[in-house]
Amino acid sequence: MARAMKVAIVDDEADMRQSISQWLALSGFETETFASAEEALKTIGADYPGVVVSDIKMPGMDGMAFLKRLMSLDNGLPVIMITGHGDVPMAVEAMRVGAYDFLEKPFNPDRMTELTKKATQSRRLTLDSRALRRELSDGTVLMKKLIGSSAEMERLREDILDLGQADGHVLIDGETGTGKTLVAHALHAVGPRASKKFVTISCAAWSEDQLSMRLFGPIEDGAIPLIEDARGGTLCLEDIESLSHSLQSRLLTTINDQGSPPETRIIAIVNEHAPDKTLEDILRPDLFYRLGALTILCPPLRARGEDILTLFTRLSEQFAEEYGCDAPQVAAQEAAQLLQAPWPGNVRQLVNIAERAVLQNRRGSGSIASLLMADNEAAGPALTTEGKPLKDYVEAFERMLIDNTMRRHKGSIVAVMDELCLPRRTLNEKMAKYSLSRSDYT
Ligand SMILES: Nc1ncnc2c1ncn2[C@@H]1O[C@H](COP(=O)(O)OP(=O)(O)OP(=O)(O)O)[C@@H](O)[C@H]1O
Ligand SMILES: [Mg+2]
Repeated sequence: MARAMKVAIVDDEADMRQSISQWLALSGFETETFASAEEALKTIGADYPGVVVSDIKMPGMDGMAFLKRLMSLDNGLPVIMITGHGDVPMAVEAMRVGAYDFLEKPFNPDRMTELTKKATQSRRLTLDSRALRRELSDGTVLMKKLIGSSAEMERLREDILDLGQADGHVLIDGETGTGKTLVAHALHAVGPRASKKFVTISCAAWSEDQLSMRLFGPIEDGAIPLIEDARGGTLCLEDIESLSHSLQSRLLTTINDQGSPPETRIIAIVNEHAPDKTLEDILRPDLFYRLGALTILCPPLRARGEDILTLFTRLSEQFAEEYGCDAPQVAAQEAAQLLQAPWPGNVRQLVNIAERAVLQNRRGSGSIASLLMADNEAAGPALTTEGKPLKDYVEAFERMLIDNTMRRHKGSIVAVMDELCLPRRTLNEKMAKYSLSRSDYT
């Protein structure tokens, strides 16, 4: 996100404006100049991608009124004020209103460069974190990231929307790479806490002492323990199975102290655990009772049938766009192989295969089959045909072809009928059967 930061220079004196602008441009800043505050306000608003340097004494709206107006538009905007020589009270007042800093005339140009540099750095951080927060708090964006329309996936979506609104703590379980972390973010983002913090930590990544300190404090350098930091929002505990018994009981005390509904929502994610152990074996019963009332299970990819092809298509289109090349076309046999692979690494493994397939396609070599073989060698028998009726494969493949063709023709039914040699009625019936809707492609 290395976007260029601008510097808006606002001064009624043309000479001053020009010389500041030239100096800052020489120092590598992109500048724009305005002869009055009124003029500048036509361009500068909330989320202005830069900082402002303004004179205080100007006819019309003066610098102080301008500063107040800017602060009401965006109080994170750094504004550097230029004050008259010895005008201390004015400088103090400007700082009180929210100026980033001030420069006294006549000023040292190097000091101006240095101040502008610090101000633009601070601005970039502010804007980046705003953008990230918007993206993460926009539940619809996150829900759109969840690809798939199998019954399992639809159920997962409903669970997220339902439990997102609920008050209680949530436990997320599922094999590696099934989307647990993504689901935790989505749960937070679609619920009433979306504007509050989402704080996350892995219980497996720290020693017991460090984890205890980070979660509950006290932290020496004055940082806030995560339990405090997440207050009012969500605390996401990844790898909850690694939490020691004594920390589990401390967590339980914290949870009990909060009462109901809890101020801070806890989302606990269970990572790989021995298949013969249930969650009750892993967590203290009293903690399990608190956390496990609401549980979300992320289904393994091999149980999601047709989603495998949908995911492969969408993901390889995304990578193709990123790499500026074409997405690989999936042949019937390759589709069957994708559907039959065991996918021990679930969606993460598929993401990986899709990226490699795109890169391979760009080089014009290799096949999806060889990628799958190489990837699954370590995981026992590569391809299995067990368990699924032929009908499932045929349907999944049919769905993928229609989906692909609709996308390429941007929802033009006539073009799709033509390419697939299907009468309109059959196409309509198949689209209804596979819950494909024309409006998704236009
Ligand atoms: N339904 C989905 N649609 C699109 N992408 C998905 C989906 N589910 C997971 N992903 C992607 O798959 C990858 C793995 O997901 P994520 O990290 O959430 O899984 P996880 O279960 O938390 O894995 P781990 O057990 O390793 O922590 C990520 O790149 C994620 O964006
Ligand atoms: Mg995860």
